Amino acid sequence: MAKAIVNGNRSKGTINPNIYGHFSEHLGRCVYNGLYVGQDSDIPHVNGMRADVVEALKKMGIPLLRWPGGCFADTYHWRDGIGPQESRKKIVNTNWGGVTEDNSFGTHEFLELCRQLGCQPYISGNVGSGTVQEFSDWVEYCNMGGQSPMAGERRQNGQEAPWNVKYWGIGNEAWGCGGSMRAEFYADLCRQYATYLRNYDSEHKIYKIASGANVDDYHWTKTVVEQAGGLIDAVSLHYYTRPRTKDWNDKGAATGFPRQEYYSTLRNTLYMEELVENHSRIIRQYQGGRQVGLCVDEWGTWYDVEPGTNPGFLYQQNTMRDALVAAINLNIFNNHCDTVVMANLAQVVNVLQAVLLTEGSKLVRTPTYHVFEMYQGHQGAKQLESYVETVLTGEGENQVPNLHISASQGPEGVLVTAANLDDKRPAQLDCVLAGLGQLSQVEGRVLTGGCGAFNDFGAGEIVKPAALAAAKVEEGFQAVLPPCSVAAFTLR
Ligand code: AHR
Repeated sequence: MAKAIVNGNRSKGTINPNIYGHFSEHLGRCVYNGLYVGQDSDIPHVNGMRADVVEALKKMGIPLLRWPGGCFADTYHWRDGIGPQESRKKIVNTNWGGVTEDNSFGTHEFLELCRQLGCQPYISGNVGSGTVQEFSDWVEYCNMGGQSPMAGERRQNGQEAPWNVKYWGIGNEAWGCGGSMRAEFYADLCRQYATYLRNYDSEHKIYKIASGANVDDYHWTKTVVEQAGGLIDAVSLHYYTRPRTKDWNDKGAATGFPRQEYYSTLRNTLYMEELVENHSRIIRQYQGGRQVGLCVDEWGTWYDVEPGTNPGFLYQQNTMRDALVAAINLNIFNNHCDTVVMANLAQVVNVLQAVLLTEGSKLVRTPTYHVFEMYQGHQGAKQLESYVETVLTGEGENQVPNLHISASQGPEGVLVTAANLDDKRPAQLDCVLAGLGQLSQVEGRVLTGGCGAFNDFGAGEIVKPAALAAAKVEEGFQAVLPPCSVAAFTLR
C-alpha cells in the first residue's frame, strides 16, 4: 500500500488555468484541415472552423491557444493574412515541408477561432525576420479601440471592436529558428521590441513573453531576465520529450515501441521538474523588482513521424505512454504554480503530442485528450501540497518512481490526480487528506488500457476514462490504480 498525503494547510497558490494551454502552428495539418477547413468545406464548420474539433476542445477545457508558431512565427508577416482571402499572398512555408501557405487563416480567423473556443489568444510575433514597426502595428491592429491607422484598417476588414489580445510572445526560439541569436543580442532586441508593444487600454494591459531557453540553457534565462526582466512579464522554456536522445533523426516510434522506450520516455519527461526548478530559481534571482513568470510554451513528446507521412508535418500517433507523459507534466506544473504561469502542449491537432487527430471528416480523441479533460478541475484551483510514497520501477538504466501526483481544491471539491507509471504492477493507494475538513464522498475515474494502447480511426474509442472504485476511509480514500494508468479522484 503506497501512502499519499494531501496537506490542506500548505499551498503554493492558484493554479493558473493557462497551464492547460495549447499550441497551434502553421505546420502540417494543424491549422489547415485540423482546426480550419474554410467556408466551402463539406465538413461541418462554423465560419470555416471545424465544428467537431471546436466542440471537443471546449469539452476538454481549453483556456488558451498559442499561434502562429513556433518556427513559423518568425517568418510570418501578419499583413499577408488580412483582407479578402482571395487576394492574400501565397507564400512558401519554409520551415515545414515547403508547402504553399495561402494565408487564408490569418489574424481574423485565429481570433474568431478563439471566440468560438471561449479561450484566450496568445500571439507569437515575428522578431527573427520582422521589424519593430510591423510587430507594434499588429498589437495596435488588434487592440486599439479608438481612431488610429491600424484600428481603421481593422474596421475596414470587418472587425469593429478591438480584440484586446493580452498575451504576446516576443519571437520564438530566438536561439535557433527564430534568428540564431546569442542571449545577449536577443536580450537587447527584446528590450527594444517590448518598448514598442503598447497598451491601448488601461483595463486591458498586454502581457509580454520573452523567447526563452532551449532545455537547460540556463545562461539564456539568466541573461534575458537580468537584461530585459524589467520590460517583460514572463520568459518561456521549451522542452520536448524523446525516447531516444542521441540523434534527432532517430527519436523512436510513437506506437509499437519496446518496453525500454516506454521507460526512457517517462524518465526523460520527469526531467521537466529539474528544468522548471532551475529556471525558476534563476528567474527569482535575476528578476529585480518585477515578478517574471515562466511559460513552458512548448512541451510534449516528439517521435519519428508515422511511416508514409510527410516528414515536415510531424504527424504522430498517441498512446497511453503519452497520457502518462501528460499526467506527469501537468502534475509538475500544478506543483510549481508559484512560478509556472502558462504551459502549451505541442500541438493541439495532428502535430506531435496532439489531443485530437483528424482524417477527412473523422476525428479521434487521443489518450492525452482524456488526461486534459480529467485534470480540468485543477484549472484556477488552489494547489495543495502533496506527497506520495514511491518505489523505483523500470528497465535497466531507465528507473522512475512508480507513482506521481498533484492535488488542488476548487469549487467542485478536492481533486487528486495520480499516475501509476509501472507497466505491469497495479498500485494500491492509501491517501490521507489533512486539514481539509469533512469530506464524505469520493469519486474515481481512470484512464488505462496498456502502455501501447491508442485510439485509431474507425477502431472505436479504445482508450477513454472509466469509473474507478475508490473507498472513502476516515481522513481520505483508498483505491487500486491499474498498471500504466492515470486516475482522478474528486472528494466532496
Ligand atoms: O513544435 C514544433 C517546433 O518545435 C516549433 O515550431 C519550434 O518552436 C520547436 O522547435
